[in-house]
Amino acid sequence: MTPVASPRSVRITGWGRYAPAQVLTNADLERMVDTSDEWIVSRTGIRERRVAAAHETSASMGAVAGLRAIRTAGLDPDDIDVIVVATLSPDYWMPSTAALVKEAIGNTRAAAFDVAAACSGFVYGYATASAYIASGMARHVLVIGTELLTRFLDYRDRGTCILFGDGAGAVVLSGSDEPTAPVGIELTTDPQGAYMIWLPAGGSKAPSSFETISQGQHKIRMEGKETYRFATRTLASTGLAAVAKAGWTPGDVDLIIPHQANIRIIEAVAKGLDLPMDRFFVNVDRYGNTSAASVPIALAEAVNSGRVKPGDKLVFIAFGAGFTSGAVALEWTADPARGPIGEASVSPEDIHVRQPVDWDSVDPIPPALAEILARPLPVALDLSDVAPGEPAHPAQSVR
Ligand SMILES: CC(C)(COP(=O)(O)OP(=O)(O)OC[C@H]1O[C@@H](n2cnc3c(N)ncnc32)[C@H](O)[C@@H]1OP(=O)(O)O)[C@@H](O)C(=O)NCCC(=O)NCCS
Repeated sequence: MTPVASPRSVRITGWGRYAPAQVLTNADLERMVDTSDEWIVSRTGIRERRVAAAHETSASMGAVAGLRAIRTAGLDPDDIDVIVVATLSPDYWMPSTAALVKEAIGNTRAAAFDVAAACSGFVYGYATASAYIASGMARHVLVIGTELLTRFLDYRDRGTCILFGDGAGAVVLSGSDEPTAPVGIELTTDPQGAYMIWLPAGGSKAPSSFETISQGQHKIRMEGKETYRFATRTLASTGLAAVAKAGWTPGDVDLIIPHQANIRIIEAVAKGLDLPMDRFFVNVDRYGNTSAASVPIALAEAVNSGRVKPGDKLVFIAFGAGFTSGAVALEWTADPARGPIGEASVSPEDIHVRQPVDWDSVDPIPPALAEILARPLPVALDLSDVAPGEPAHPAQSVR
């Protein structure tokens, strides 16, 4: 990474997303755990989520979304000075997923590292990238949120396995000498919620052992009600703080892109900010909770489907394990027409993540998902946003 000149204003110049083709519907889950489509839709707004194929990883999905964002920005991979990957489902503990992404997208010169802030990870990564650019340390930073959560779920726990899905989203942030509207960023962490969403084993506190595996301690655990309370309490106040730092009031905001965890949480934030639901972009019905990937996937869909135009005031809001939360208020400056061009220019087959040598690969697919992943893939692409309560989308592929 080569330091660049004086402090600059920061703007989004590229955006991209990737969602694996295989769809896991509520009807599929009805066959796996004691649940129902009616319960899942009424309590969460989720109708379906994506499941990564056996050959996919967080790095491979993140690299597709990242390269699409670079192409949308009209840049080459080597124009990127820093790669920040937000993920709670990295390919490995080490090396970083960002290091694998760097090679897979063909970048030879960026500094690359991961950010761990769970579902707020993309917003934390955005804030980090923004600081690198504003300080003059970097000109172009790639921020990726990528998650492969379906390999970390207990498909006997109906309280968690219905919520999460796989995917990746990315933005390129670039420095500009032209002044831009003020940006507001707010980040919070409340360790009181440290054990409300957690993955107990595999770290230095509880290294992997026969016992941790047999006790299912390598799967995500969650106190749903407490998490819900934290989210509804915190999201609106974090969003309000970012809006105030930008010098706006909530009524000035054109579109809020919230973390897509649960439609009821988004509705509570709308109430807290006294804004109608049509100011919120919603795609939780089609992807479920993709953690750090959810905001950048939603952003790319919002822009590519015509919901965002230059001059619009946007707010990203997220919360997650930690408890963390974060919000960014910014003015959109890029040409939305570039998104579909960038998306079409990168096929998942273009991406090759380095494989370990001398390693007999294990089968990564949880047994509960084997049947779903063996069936034919759905096709067709529709970028339209769907309000909860509308009829289910046909199965879609975002490739
Ligand atoms: C998980 C969540 C949807 C549960 O909804 P809820 O209204 O709080 O439901 P409860 O946990 O109170 O459970 C109510 C009942 O439904 C049952 N239930 C839980 N999951 C169920 C499922 N998938 N299907 C059917 N019933 C279910 C419970 O066992 C309970 O039954 P009981 O009354 O007989 O004990 C909700 O708490 C939530 O969204 N929390 C936030 C989670 C989140 O966003 N996490 C990610 C943060 S980034």
